[in-house]
Amino acid sequence: MTEHIIVERPEAYPGVMVIRFNRPEKKNAITAAMYHRMTAALEEANTDEALRAVVFLGTEGCFSAGNDMGDFLAHAMSGTTEAPAAAVFIKALALAEKPLVSGVDGLAIGIGTTLNLHCDMTVASNRSMFRTPFVDLALVPEAASSLLAPRVMGHQRAFALLVAGEGFSAEAALEAGLVWKVVEPDAVKAETLAVAATLAKKPPQALKIARDLVRGPRDEILARMDEELVHFSTRLKSAEARAAFEAFMRR
Ligand code: COA
Repeated sequence: MTEHIIVERPEAYPGVMVIRFNRPEKKNAITAAMYHRMTAALEEANTDEALRAVVFLGTEGCFSAGNDMGDFLAHAMSGTTEAPAAAVFIKALALAEKPLVSGVDGLAIGIGTTLNLHCDMTVASNRSMFRTPFVDLALVPEAASSLLAPRVMGHQRAFALLVAGEGFSAEAALEAGLVWKVVEPDAVKAETLAVAATLAKKPPQALKIARDLVRGPRDEILARMDEELVHFSTRLKSAEARAAFEAFMRR
């Protein structure tokens, strides 16, 4: 158990599970323990009929700064052949049975951005910034983002985001189709919960079928995750990636 992820079922929003990043002092960077907790929550939502929608939220001004760099470095140095902790969580995202809704306020980096590609509706504050510096860290895109982002936003914008590492403002993300709605920062939480609560009230079987139809086959997504993971795991152990993680830790 970690205090850095809070899982709640707010009484005011029946049928909604909230998964909240709670590590603001580290910009909600995600550790292995946090991935494990989120994976368990998603699995619980799949099997609990009372739960009809899952919400991801961050803290004020920060959704998540992505994977914890210390964890990346430890993994790179360890010589382990195990997949990084994010891999299991990423699969759980693809296998989620209930609608996923995210509310982003501020920084959304790495998986803080790619997680939203698995969300069905994302509300973002007008001060949000989406960025994936994978290649700058000598890594490659993950979470099937190399498949999903070009579908959502076309090749040029997906390339700018995933390969060139360009930042997308809330406005650019809205235009690119990465988010559903842009609101003032203090409205993000309420708007996100309202979206989820509305979905949670819909007839669940029809909702599930409609969602599955709109999302398309999962096999393709899972296969792309596996393909990315082969490269990601190798890159993670490369000298150039280690140098990038060490440079961050030394700042
Ligand atoms: N992993 C571990 N710690 C992180 C982190 C990460 N991904 N992102 C931020 N932190 C920590 C910082 O080390 C710092 O810790 P400290 O106060 O103990 O020194 C704290 O969070 C605050 O971050 P800081 O860099 O001082 O804030 P900032 O507002 O100047 O910059 C970011 C914020 C997110 C732009 C910057 O921290 C950053 O670039 N982080 C790395 C993002 C990244 O590349 N993620 C991986 C993507 S694959």
